[in-house]
Amino acid sequence: MRIGILTGGGDAPGLNGVIEAAGKTLLSLGHQVIGIRDGFEGVFAGQVFPIEAPFLEGLHSHAGTALGTSNKCGTEGREAEFLECYKKLNLDGLIVAGGDGTFNGLKSFKNDIHLIGVPKTIDNDLAGTDITFGYDTACSVVAESVDALRYTAHAHKRVMVIEVMGRTAGWIALGGGMSAYADVILIPERPFHREELKKFILEKKNTQRGLVCVVSEGAFAEGESPEVAFHVPEAPQPERLGGIGESMAHWVQHSTDWESRHIVLGHLQRSKPPTTTDRFLTLAMGVQVAQLVHQKDWFKAAVYRQGVVQVAPLEELMQPPRLVDPNHRWVKMAQAVGIYI
Ligand code: F6P
Repeated sequence: MRIGILTGGGDAPGLNGVIEAAGKTLLSLGHQVIGIRDGFEGVFAGQVFPIEAPFLEGLHSHAGTALGTSNKCGTEGREAEFLECYKKLNLDGLIVAGGDGTFNGLKSFKNDIHLIGVPKTIDNDLAGTDITFGYDTACSVVAESVDALRYTAHAHKRVMVIEVMGRTAGWIALGGGMSAYADVILIPERPFHREELKKFILEKKNTQRGLVCVVSEGAFAEGESPEVAFHVPEAPQPERLGGIGESMAHWVQHSTDWESRHIVLGHLQRSKPPTTTDRFLTLAMGVQVAQLVHQKDWFKAAVYRQGVVQVAPLEELMQPPRLVDPNHRWVKMAQAVGIYI
């Protein structure tokens, strides 16, 4: 068969691992592999190329995606055009590594395109899977940053506020912040109480020289709303959150008289070489999707549940985002070690 591979949405460390594992498995099973450039844009523009073995060699250790991607190009309102362009590619099946934006953009093609999905996002908020690749790498960037910034916080007797990604989900702040024992972790699923937080910070001011606060870009105080940094009008998800790190640092300094600085980790969280955990996950998922293709078991996805990579209906990735339960066991563990959350 002639099988396309497409990576869509924001990049996540591990995309190249999926391309390498799925590509190598498909080639060894005798299939032809076609790379599609820049997500859906490549389908509309007919930008495709044959993938041979040398192209795949060593991809797994690199961040980004060798195919390119886009989080600006949707199919909404252009479904007929998309299908017409897709047919011209003459593919027997399509492997898509994407997030909710990408999979929702493919919802209407169930009867027209032989699809296989791989869940991807650093935010870890995709329904249908316990974990997405890229998340572990993003958490490791956050944890390394907390460990590093604690030194300057204590040296200068300051509060360091670290804003991290995650959109409406607090997984990155929670996983990364807990791994490095941040003093405070603020997530969107648990709107914080300003007076209570102020009291916690003032108590810490009496007992330690510095303090590190990890704040999710979507976090907000009770009765307030998430801060929107700007809009990307042409994107399927146009709002870009951000700004809470800076406003938190100002608020902490003003309300506790403890000198504060902020840092936004931003796209560094998406751009590091994947961790071993993410590499292993993408190898397992890449092999799994290639096998699904070989068996012509269409409209399925490789997901991670209960410690293993499994097969699930693709629709399960198209559900609303999987947010952190406000009383999740991780929240309780964080509280047990004295983290304010
Ligand atoms: O969904 C992944 C993500 O990195 C979010 O955590 C973040 O809010 C958004 O993408 C940033 O998008 P962009 O790359 O368009 O700035």
